[in-house]
Amino acid sequence: MKRIALITSGGDSPGMNACTRAVVKYSLNQNMSCLGIYDGYQGMIEKRGKWMTFTDVHNIIHLGGTVLGTARSDEFRTAEGRKKAIDYLVSEKIEGLIVAGGDGSFRGAKLLGDEMKIPVIGIPCTIDNDIFGTDRTIGYDTALNTVVEAVDRIRDTAGSHHRIFFVEVMGRDSGFIALNSSIAAGADAVLIPEEHTDIESLVKIIVDSNKGSRGTIIIVAEGDDAGGALEIMEKVQPYFSDKSMRYTILGHIQRGGRPSSYDRILATKMGISAVQQLVTGKTDCMIGVHGDEIILTPFEVSVKQNSRPNLDGLTLVEQLRTNLIH
Ligand code: F6P
Repeated sequence: MKRIALITSGGDSPGMNACTRAVVKYSLNQNMSCLGIYDGYQGMIEKRGKWMTFTDVHNIIHLGGTVLGTARSDEFRTAEGRKKAIDYLVSEKIEGLIVAGGDGSFRGAKLLGDEMKIPVIGIPCTIDNDIFGTDRTIGYDTALNTVVEAVDRIRDTAGSHHRIFFVEVMGRDSGFIALNSSIAAGADAVLIPEEHTDIESLVKIIVDSNKGSRGTIIIVAEGDDAGGALEIMEKVQPYFSDKSMRYTILGHIQRGGRPSSYDRILATKMGISAVQQLVTGKTDCMIGVHGDEIILTPFEVSVKQNSRPNLDGLTLVEQLRTNLIH
């Protein structure tokens, strides 16, 4: 196998560039060529690619975002669109394709794999960490660090004003970011989609933890069943006529920033492994990590389900909550 192609697809995540760098440099060092296709599947349809050189990936390991660009492509959902994409790969004599993205990108990769002979390998890149078949996705660690730094800053003003803060974090339908950032940032409570939120119970937590002159931090996953930070604050406010409350939606700052060392190492290992899997004849599967091991999961298994955070983390938050009534 001498000619492979790479796309970054779906929501970008810190570490995608470290992954691109690893795929390109490793393949070049194996006397292979790598076609970097711009803007995901849409760029594939529009035949926008460049044969990568060492220079193209020089000095990018520390950059957030993705130098290849990404996009969500409606045209790719059509058979005609996918045929244009396949025709491009065939015209460039591509022998293997690497898709760095999330579960939506792998659904597209599976469709491609069913409609062409070119083998496809996936690399899990998303800040949500919710892809089945890996303990960690590229970008999650960096997003966690970003959230914790932001909550540390909010804690300063919450303590100064004795305020109750509701901080909304990303994660789509999963609570990985919310749950683990609440532990690391020492939040008083965390609301995640995997657990039903009861407003009365939350009110009691706030009563117990907000006595005295300290602030209270509640981290809310954007997919929580009781709503986002603003909605939940509005449900809680009526219980506390004498308490000052504010909310912050962290939004897309969680998607940017310089990748952490953990994400750079993960991206490097996964990028190299993806090329190796193609060379050894694997296809239609995603690279994952379990502990220190690289594992492979078929796309059809990975896209059928999301992975869920270990809810034992909720106990850690409860066990360290300040109950000033004691
Ligand atoms: O999947 C990553 C993610 O950041 C989710 O956590 C979030 O809900 C979504 O993407 C936002 O999508 P967009 O960037 O299209 O607004």
